[in-house]
Amino acid sequence: MVRHTFAAALAAAAFAGSAFAQKGSRASHCPADAPCGGLYNDCGVGAFCLGGCDVTTSHSIDSCVPGPVCKSGKYPLSSLDDVQSIDKYLGDNSKINWQLQGQPVFWDDKMVLTMAEGTSGTLIASTFYVWYGKICANLRTSQGQGVVTAFIMMSDVKDEIDFEFVGTDINNAQTNWYSQGITDYTQMKKLPVDGDTVSESHEYCIDWTEDELTWSIDGTGKRTTKKSETWNSTSNRFDYPQTPSRIMISLWPAGLSSNGEGTIEWAGGLIDWQSKYMQNNMYVAVVSDVSVECYDPPSGITKKGSKVYKYTDAKNPTNNTIQITDDYIVLASLENTGENPGDASKSSSTSTGPKPTKTAAQVPGGNPGGGLRGDTTTTASGSNPSETSGSGSGASTTTGSGGQSFDQGTTNTGAGVVVEPGLGRVGGSALAIVVAVLGLLVL
Ligand SMILES: *[C@@H]1O[C@H](CO)[C@@H](O)[C@H](O)[C@H]1NC(C)=O
Ligand SMILES: *[C@@H]1O[C@H](CO)[C@@H](O)[C@H](O)[C@H]1NC(C)=O
Repeated sequence: MVRHTFAAALAAAAFAGSAFAQKGSRASHCPADAPCGGLYNDCGVGAFCLGGCDVTTSHSIDSCVPGPVCKSGKYPLSSLDDVQSIDKYLGDNSKINWQLQGQPVFWDDKMVLTMAEGTSGTLIASTFYVWYGKICANLRTSQGQGVVTAFIMMSDVKDEIDFEFVGTDINNAQTNWYSQGITDYTQMKKLPVDGDTVSESHEYCIDWTEDELTWSIDGTGKRTTKKSETWNSTSNRFDYPQTPSRIMISLWPAGLSSNGEGTIEWAGGLIDWQSKYMQNNMYVAVVSDVSVECYDPPSGITKKGSKVYKYTDAKNPTNNTIQITDDYIVLASLENTGENPGDASKSSSTSTGPKPTKTAAQVPGGNPGGGLRGDTTTTASGSNPSETSGSGSGASTTTGSGGQSFDQGTTNTGAGVVVEPGLGRVGGSALAIVVAVLGLLVL
């Protein structure tokens, strides 16, 4: 029941924005009562204002909660101790380093990302941002057509650095980067992996500095892109990832018939939900030992503190328009926003400012295929989005998952759960496709 609610809630959250035309773009920002622009131009409050909130589409430059600074460390991901469901997380990253959408299980002290039929897989995203650093993850990817495993860096203004693994090619990692959401797919490069990506864990690293970007596998640098080679004379800037980015690791169903043709083709075809590659009726990918070594932020920036990265120009988000300040914000509730955070120290979270309208979505949907997926899965599970009026509350994706032995089977049925998929851009154009589909829903 709870899961059903979550399913409906996410779907409703995704569609509430559409239904009430709460959309934002760079030309037409989100409205005051749903001020925070999500990754797919949907607008909302609460979780919309935390990770993934885009200043270029949000109502004001203060709508988004500034992103917490980079935290060097080793993140074993061996339990849910460090992980919180996106519909619970309010911005206090002092104890929680990862946000979750989906249902992981734990096996051999490692996190198993699951994807059962009718779900959109599992996504974890760091609650802190990296503004240059070396980020490594040990992964075993999932196998089968239409199934994609991803390890990416994604900034709130849609700079992106990707490792993606298509389930029909277990011998290569696909690498790519994007700048401010411009979908230039010509830079995709496959990097061979010794052995295969499924049966053994390999270490994938993204080494990201102000001047260059290196993808390495098992300690060997395999691809380097220099900022100096990315000058775009049309936009007069470097098309190079240069804004603080979250780490995202996910397993998601690119091969759903409701997705765009290009997406399905890229992913190797439609997903077979009776596949021999499934375990316990789920596709799985294993993540462990994510490590982060933070590098210094650009030397020329303004530092007014040490806690958050704050955009100072909502029109031109580059390495030159971000400061480090102490404007650390924890929301009082998922009804609050960066403009009106409420008083988080009051546990009952009575917010003082104006309440958002009932229709303001609190938890984003509409990830690559998320809008599509919300649609599909809602239909499949028979849930009715209107039951939840767009509230993300009552959701619990994490209950009882901790400490389960994957080998012994789990109680994770997963069925009927709608979760966010990963954010890897589809080799076609997930962003474009999803935006197009959400656009259609509005009309
Ligand atoms: C250069 O920037 C323009 C304007 O943002 C964009 O439309 C174009 O796709 C970019 N060129 C490349 C090669 O990405
Ligand atoms: C941003 O990048 C440009 C080009 O690489 C560089 O010249 C500039 O100094 C950087 N800005 C800061 C604040 O470091």
